[in-house]
Formats: sequence, C-alpha cells, structure tokens
Amino acid sequence: MKTFASDNYSGVHPEVMDAIIRANYAHEISYGDDEITAEMDKIFKQQFGDVDVLYAFNGTGANIVSLKCAVLPFQSVICADTAHIHVDECGGPTQHIGCTLVPLPTPDGKLTPALVEHQLSFIGDVHHVQPKVISVSQSTELGTVYSLEEMRALADFAHKYDMFLHVDGARISNAVATLGCTLKEATVDCEVDIMTFGGTKNGIMMGEAILIFNKKLRKHAPYYHKQTAQLYSKNRFIAAQFKALFTNELWKEMALHSNQMAQLLAAEISKIEGVTITQKVEANALFVILPKEVVEPLRKAYRFYDWNVETGEVRWMCSFDTTKEDVMEFVEKIKELIAKTDF
Ligand SMILES: Cc1ncc(COP(=O)(O)O)c(C=O)c1O
Repeated sequence: MKTFASDNYSGVHPEVMDAIIRANYAHEISYGDDEITAEMDKIFKQQFGDVDVLYAFNGTGANIVSLKCAVLPFQSVICADTAHIHVDECGGPTQHIGCTLVPLPTPDGKLTPALVEHQLSFIGDVHHVQPKVISVSQSTELGTVYSLEEMRALADFAHKYDMFLHVDGARISNAVATLGCTLKEATVDCEVDIMTFGGTKNGIMMGEAILIFNKKLRKHAPYYHKQTAQLYSKNRFIAAQFKALFTNELWKEMALHSNQMAQLLAAEISKIEGVTITQKVEANALFVILPKEVVEPLRKAYRFYDWNVETGEVRWMCSFDTTKEDVMEFVEKIKELIAKTDF
C-alpha cells in the first residue's frame, strides 16, 4: 500500500538498513561511548561546527529534551498553534518541563517577530509566565519553509529579549533542500540556539538528534536526556543510521526527492478544476481542499489525513520512496472521482 498520509508511513532506506546490520558486530561500549557514535558526532561537528550532540528515539522526546535545556517551569515556549509540540505531543513538553506553551495563530505555520511581540508585555510581571523560548518547526507543519532571513530575524528578536530560538527540525532536511543552502547556513549561521534533527521522516528506522549550538544550554542536557528516558544503551544503532544519512548526502537526496514529488503532485492537481491548494508547497507536504464528495472515496484507495473537517481540507505528504508513478496514479484517481461528481 502506498499512501500520502505521512512521511513516517514509509519504510527504511536500504542503505540505512544495511548500516544497522553492519553495526551489529560483537560487543561495543554502551550509552553512546561507542565508536560509531563518536564518528557520527564528528560528522555533525563537520556539518555544523561547534555543537553538542545527543541522540533520541523520537521527535517528541527530542523536543522535550531540547526544550528542557532552555526553559524553566515558570517560563513559556512561544510556538505556532499548529506546532507539533502543541498539537501532537500529548502535553509532553508541559508535563516533563512544567513550562507553559503559548500557541499563536499564524496564516502559514510560521511565527514572525510581529506575531510574538505582544508576549513581551509579560516580561518582568510576576503574574505571567515569562517568555523564554521561541519554537519554530522547519519545515513547518503546514509544509512551508522559513527563509534564512526569517529565521535570522526570529533569532535576533529572541536574543534581544533574552530568549532562545528552538527549531523542531523533524523535517530540517526538506527545508534545507528547498533553501539550497548548507545545514549550517540554515541553522548556526542564523543564530539558532538548539535544534532537533529529524531522521525518522527522512528514511531512517528510528532516531533523531538533538543539536545544542548555544553553549549556555549544554550543561544539564545529558541529565535531562537520561531523565526523560531518551538515552539509548545501544546508541550505536541510532548513530549508524545517521552515518548512512550523511554518506554521500543521502539526507539531501531523499529530501530533494520527496520535495520534488510534492511539487509534481501540486503541479498536476492544480490543473484539476475544483481542487484548491491552500498553502505554498515548499517542502514535502500539500494542503488541499477537495470537493467533499471526493474525500471519502479517495480515502478508500489511499490513506491520508483530514486537516480541517469543516472546510474539507486534507493533508498529503510525500516520502523519500514516493515515485512519479505513485503521484500520477493518485492524480488519475482524483480526476476519476471528480469526474463522477457534478459540483
Ligand atoms: C514537526 C514534527 N515534529 C516532531 C515530530 C516527531 O514526532 P514523533 O515523536 O512521532 O517522532 C513530528 C512527527 O509527526 C513532526 O511532524
């Protein structure tokens, strides 16, 4: 079954699977003190410069650990109201940290200094949680991408008011593929303080990395990592997957491919009358309003998620293993179903 439901419906890239198998040799030192983790840490340093690296099982855990490094229980994390940390983590960050999330409405999943500005009036007022982190997702949950200037502006704004900029980088590879820059240019050079680096949505079996750029956030990180149950005793198997991702820039190849499939799908469906694309297609996600009669029959053939049941908006995601044929067959199915409706 091929789907357009999520980039984590897809399997594991064969090179990543091979890397796991190759890592399965004899005994190795546990808890990240192994050779493969050391090699991977070195690769992250080559890519990003001065960085502390921790590995995590999943994106929720990586977000919790990274936010915990930056925020205290009486402080707040400002995010878009579509942010995964707000909508899809079952209150994990607030439960583990005790902080408050302040979700703000945005037209396109992106925060701006102007949207955040109102929160500044609470600084120094004991009756309000104190804004400490601006958290953005790159690419966003709406498939949009912050430009380098937009990211930099948020970092400058955060730092001006003694806050940190956190990036949920579950799909940072897709964003960087779109921006056409280096990983470092998209993050460290924009003054991002701390970021999660996604693997699971880009062809690996299991694993994310937490990249701590700002030295001020490093001291307690290993303890938060352990306390939140994200320190894997056999970390070599997570590190080996990332090594595969960074061999011959596999991360970029896969991200470019899934982005291209999203572009192809967007180009094809925009030719169909009655279909409206609601967000800019800048990464591997599409948001689309279909004629209501089409949604359920289409779902019988392909899995995908509703985004807004009231408006009939749905979300389609492309993966590293989505093929042109998958896209064209999907488009044909949509055409066929629309032809049957008399909207
Ligand atoms: C923006 C974003 N962040 C983080 C995650 C990670 O979630 P999980 O804990 O399921 O790996 C996801 C997965 O959907 C996501 O879309």
